[in-house]
Amino acid sequence: MMARSARSCDTAQVVLKVDNLCKRFGGLVAVDNLSFAVYKGQIMGIIGPNGAGKTTAFNLISGVSSPTCGDISLCENRITGFPSHQVALLGLRRTFQEIHLFRGLTVLQNVKSAAFHQMDYSLADALAWSRRLRTQERDVTARSMELLERFGLAEMANEPADSLPYGMQKRLEIVKAIVTNPKVLLLDEPASGLDPRARIEIKELLKELKSMGKTIIISSHILPELADFCNKIGIIEKGKLIISGGVQEIMRQVSGGRVLLLRVLDEPDRVIELLSAMEGVLSAGVDEGRSAIRIEFAGDEAAQHAILQQLIQNGIRVQSFNEVQTDLEEIFMKVTRGIVS
Ligand SMILES: Nc1ncnc2c1ncn2[C@@H]1O[C@H](COP(=O)(O)OP(=O)(O)O)[C@@H](O)[C@H]1O
Ligand SMILES: [Mg+2]
Repeated sequence: MMARSARSCDTAQVVLKVDNLCKRFGGLVAVDNLSFAVYKGQIMGIIGPNGAGKTTAFNLISGVSSPTCGDISLCENRITGFPSHQVALLGLRRTFQEIHLFRGLTVLQNVKSAAFHQMDYSLADALAWSRRLRTQERDVTARSMELLERFGLAEMANEPADSLPYGMQKRLEIVKAIVTNPKVLLLDEPASGLDPRARIEIKELLKELKSMGKTIIISSHILPELADFCNKIGIIEKGKLIISGGVQEIMRQVSGGRVLLLRVLDEPDRVIELLSAMEGVLSAGVDEGRSAIRIEFAGDEAAQHAILQQLIQNGIRVQSFNEVQTDLEEIFMKVTRGIVS
């Protein structure tokens, strides 16, 4: 039970915190000392290959199963071992990798029952609940329709949920998860198994969620899918979070520095020679296309500025000088050393 002094999500900055979480299935360690924190409004991507432990971690966090060890807190309140319906009531909703719709109900009825309900319940329960909450029904219908409208499902509102194409069913799952306006949303591989068109539609939906300021944890085994969506990523392999942080932060950890790209109007060889003697420069060389000089750099901002200053003082005609935004794909490959495809 929650303590009386429970913090509300309005004041807590850390919406979800996981400390040394683990889960064993017999001899298999599916989740191995997982720790991370997600702040209000953050979107964290959990990336890892199939079998890495993403779904198991989501199951532990959402109360679908209990951890072997470790702690979970939601808005600074401990929820470790709470059953899923209680976790959902406290403001955490999740989607499953597979479809979890009420096949016999319409699209709208599915969203409405999710508004009243958690994840482990029967159809009979759902209908009974609907009766009990008839007074609220008008509000819930309006909110459900608004969301269906927003996510391009309004026209299907009165169709049986299982008559929808797979991509739309996936979108409906997300609408169901957000109808209660949760504090944190866990999306387990929302784009898996979709054709390219449905994938684009899910991406649009995710962008919309982002613009709504939602706090989200999203899993994927495909890296580029999350690249422009998340502001934080964690890479998970064999149950262990092997690296986590902002994209650029991780890049620095992985390569030991940042990459600068320099374009000059002079012969590159002389410039490379000059650069090699400068503070913070690990290496400098002409890049593949021979159009720029690539600098592996481990210095701070002041040292970065000093590079530009010295080049100009040495009469080098600098055309452009910028830091390369390393993409997630590159980081992923470096971190996992090619183990993961
Ligand atoms: N209920 C379970 N019983 C036994 N092993 C399981 C169970 N659920 C998951 N696993 C195992 O735990 C590991 C992690 O699985 P999972 O969390 O589904 O990975 P992911 O979602 O990253 O693909 C896998 O080796 C999987 O076979
Ligand atoms: Mg999974």
